Amino acid sequence: MKDNDNLTIERPTFVTHLECAMEGDHYPADQVHNLSKAGKPLLVRYDLPGVKKALSKDALAQRPADMWRYRELLPVRKCADIVSLGEVMTPLIRLPKLGKKLGGGEIIVKDEGRLPTGSFKARGLVMAVSMAKALGIKHMAMPTNGNAGAALAAYASRADIKTTIFCPEDTPEVNVSEIALQGATVYRVNGLIDDCGKIVGEGKAKVGWFDTSTLKEPYRIEGKKTMGLELAEQLGWQVPDAIFYPTGGGTGLIGMWKAFAELEAIGFIGKKRPRMIAVQAAGCAPMVKAFEAGEEHAPRWENAHTIAAGIRVPQAIGDFLILRAVRESGGFAIAVSDEAISAALDEMAREEGFLLCPEGAATYAAYKQSLSDGRVKRTDQVVLFNCASGLKYPLPPARRTLDRHKPIDFTTL
Ligand SMILES: Cc1ncc(COP(=O)(O)O)c(C=O)c1O
Repeated sequence: MKDNDNLTIERPTFVTHLECAMEGDHYPADQVHNLSKAGKPLLVRYDLPGVKKALSKDALAQRPADMWRYRELLPVRKCADIVSLGEVMTPLIRLPKLGKKLGGGEIIVKDEGRLPTGSFKARGLVMAVSMAKALGIKHMAMPTNGNAGAALAAYASRADIKTTIFCPEDTPEVNVSEIALQGATVYRVNGLIDDCGKIVGEGKAKVGWFDTSTLKEPYRIEGKKTMGLELAEQLGWQVPDAIFYPTGGGTGLIGMWKAFAELEAIGFIGKKRPRMIAVQAAGCAPMVKAFEAGEEHAPRWENAHTIAAGIRVPQAIGDFLILRAVRESGGFAIAVSDEAISAALDEMAREEGFLLCPEGAATYAAYKQSLSDGRVKRTDQVVLFNCASGLKYPLPPARRTLDRHKPIDFTTL
């Protein structure tokens, strides 16, 4: 086995068509698409009996440990179109100390901060850009809260595709800088991510760029789906009892739900599903409100605010898919305060030496909240998603200094 086998060995591919997630009508594969005629997301469909014949667990086990090992369940047809920066399988980090402190359950963090550009947005955007390359798209545009824009910029530059990105004006400086440095044109906009999305939508006709917004193009979800494929494989083709997912646009949650269905169809896992738990911030919780009201759609959340910028998404086009997955799985949607997010981040860093991103910290805060209100059992095996490296975020200063020219009182150190 060579390190780049997944990027160089052609494999059979099985995409049959795309399907409207709401109406179920079909669209041809291998053509440029955004939304369906009904204005809803398109999902990629595969010849799963064909995949079942072509792929075995043993064959997979022989392949290098990156997300391209699942080629038979991915849309990219030819190796030449894969625009990779090394999308490694991300590790599962067990937290025995905190598990013990909280009373027993197995807590596992899937650490997505190890991916290129430091976040799980790499999974979705490497797929979107690889498909854009395959389909001859020359200019991509996108609204972003930061991490997605960074990933699009990186992959699109690598593929010689022009990129224009719009982010809310208070997007962390590090994100805006990395987007610009990685070759995109980036604008701060005085609004939120959906306001940026409107600009991208308008420019589609006027400039001719491709709208790469979450779920408005069909392939980011296929990339994010690999989180579910990977997780099941890493747990020995088992799924955990519950997954806590920081939910903005919800691509990852919807993607993992799709992954589990596909894995069952090819005989790799059984009927068991994890409870999918959508974690939002109390200052922007449209899914929680809709979940609790028993609604199928989530209206826009006004005056959205939270320190977890990645989940500050007032309205999601895939709302009905998020809510459907959460309900079908027997899960729930939960909101956590910014104070609880900060406390969770602090606790994890001090006790486990694990610097989460705020969105990842929200999942730990939500887990603790769910334990105390009894919605999750102490014996449950839970997976929390840390979706970006904590190092990408502004950190509090550490202020202790020592004057080496003066005598040091070691009793105080
Ligand atoms: C760090 C982080 N966590 C979570 C999310 C939300 O992801 P999704 O759109 O899959 O719900 C984002 C999206 O910007 C993010 O950057």
